[in-house]
Amino acid sequence: MEINLQKISGLSISLDEENLDLIFDGNFPFIEKSKRSLNDLRPYLKNPEAKNGPDPAYRIWRRAHLKKDDEKIRSAGLRYDLTLLPSGTIDGEFVKTAGHYHLPYPEIYEVLRGRAYFLIQSFEESAEKIKSVYLAEAGPGEKFVIPPGFGHNMINVFGEPLLTANLVSEKAEHDYEPYKNNHGACYYFLNGGNLIDIVKNPNYDSAPEIKKIRAREYPEFGLTKENPLYSLINNLQQLKFLNHPEEFEGEWRNW
Ligand SMILES: [Fe+2]
Repeated sequence: MEINLQKISGLSISLDEENLDLIFDGNFPFIEKSKRSLNDLRPYLKNPEAKNGPDPAYRIWRRAHLKKDDEKIRSAGLRYDLTLLPSGTIDGEFVKTAGHYHLPYPEIYEVLRGRAYFLIQSFEESAEKIKSVYLAEAGPGEKFVIPPGFGHNMINVFGEPLLTANLVSEKAEHDYEPYKNNHGACYYFLNGGNLIDIVKNPNYDSAPEIKKIRAREYPEFGLTKENPLYSLINNLQQLKFLNHPEEFEGEWRNW
């Protein structure tokens, strides 16, 4: 079945649920489509030998903006991407993205379909000593800002495909190594039958307990549930904090 995502995303796109793919209707000449195979994800898994799970583990469309918006997004120094995760588990671990840091740049995520768990972590001294770890849940239309200084990955525990959009600085360099070296984020999300088993990743020297937070609106930046993230492309000035992290204020400064 094809699910039209125009209203929620602000773009002429549909989700091909059967093939777990996206259909673009319009002129999107800059898209770089890629996939993370099960093999690519292996170093980030609780069990790197895992055999059973969706392959590819997820798909990414980078620079998924319309030709007519190219000048706007490039001059703002930003990139708009889409990520699609199937539901299910890989040897008992819920499907997830690898995880990376792009210090000090923040990133805005938006859920377009399904529900997401965003797991963010920050460290001090070394990447193995986690200072704080937060888990945010978000559903369709909801936005979540990865604050400056945090690494992030997302986990699909909700039994349906998960599609997200994100906006991030072109200057952000993605550092996957700390996640790779430690076989994932500091917590794993495992299928425990009727419940989700959240277990500490023993490869880290230390990690505090997870604090759960809710995705919330940031009306000062135009980030509300009703407003597709893509629609902000017409006023990227208000998202200046993506290239100037010091301008992103908020409670996270105490995290
Ligand atoms: Fe990121």
